[in-house]
Amino acid sequence: MAEGAASAAAELLLLAHPAGHSISPLMQQAALDALSFPARYQARDVPPAALEGVLQQMRAAPFLGGNVSVPHKERVCELVDERSELAARLGAVNTLQRRGDRLFGENTDVVGFERALAELGVEPAGMSVVVLGAGGAARAVVASLAAAGARISLSNRNQARGARLLSELAAAGRLLEGPAELAQAVRGAQLLVQTTSVGMSGASGGSPLPDGVLPVAGVVVDLIYRPATTPLLAAAQAAGLVTQNGLPMLVHQGAAAFELWTGAVAPVALMRAAAEQALTAQPSRGPA
Ligand code: ATR
Repeated sequence: MAEGAASAAAELLLLAHPAGHSISPLMQQAALDALSFPARYQARDVPPAALEGVLQQMRAAPFLGGNVSVPHKERVCELVDERSELAARLGAVNTLQRRGDRLFGENTDVVGFERALAELGVEPAGMSVVVLGAGGAARAVVASLAAAGARISLSNRNQARGARLLSELAAAGRLLEGPAELAQAVRGAQLLVQTTSVGMSGASGGSPLPDGVLPVAGVVVDLIYRPATTPLLAAAQAAGLVTQNGLPMLVHQGAAAFELWTGAVAPVALMRAAAEQALTAQPSRGPA
């Protein structure tokens, strides 16, 4: 078990701004309690100007570590004392672990995505995959798919950002330019992964794809979990395609973080049930 397990007052923090609507505290606390692991997981709203001070506090007991969410993942990657090779390559940290008086940064979004895909039985090696978006979530997805040997095409509203992502993480990936190229690639895709905020509660509505454009026979994954069924997923389901929303990835990235802090096997089914319950309690709030 991790150092601090014996302390009744061990603390785990989620650093975000804003932090109010996250479902991670309920999901992680349920798992800690189920294993009688004596730690408390709390969300803390940390404005950017306060980030360095909070990280400094976390270099001492009772902190075990925590999670990092929007907008701090990139900056925390620069501010930690050590980082995994994966976190360094992505330039983003979503999980912190205190090691003595040093903070270690990890990225569990990648393994979270991999385990979520595995639930669908999807094996990305050699698959033609279209990724929509080029933000932080897209970076984790592309890193995972490139390592697995998928053939990646990426589309993003900001083309320069899309090109930068591909050159940094997947040199062999192809940037889709224009709606006709996007439509053709999507129709032929075996896997479509939607990583933008389009379709999220409280963000711009609708689907990021033109009407009627869907894979002919592919799996459709949308990383949004609030709402549980985005307009894109609804259209894909109506077309008879296999779909998955963002909840499995959220649960699996959290489970991997839990395992890093506790050294124990995460109770994944229980974490999923707690996450679903938290979403039912707050169905229409903004991103976690
Ligand atoms: P995250 O960490 O969740 O990926 P992010 O880094 O802010 O969040 O990235 C958001 C993604 O959603 C980006 O790909 C963004 O496109 P741009 O790079 O062009 O900004 C995309 N996005 C957000 N709002 C969008 C909209 N209305 N239409 C199309 N894409 C949008």
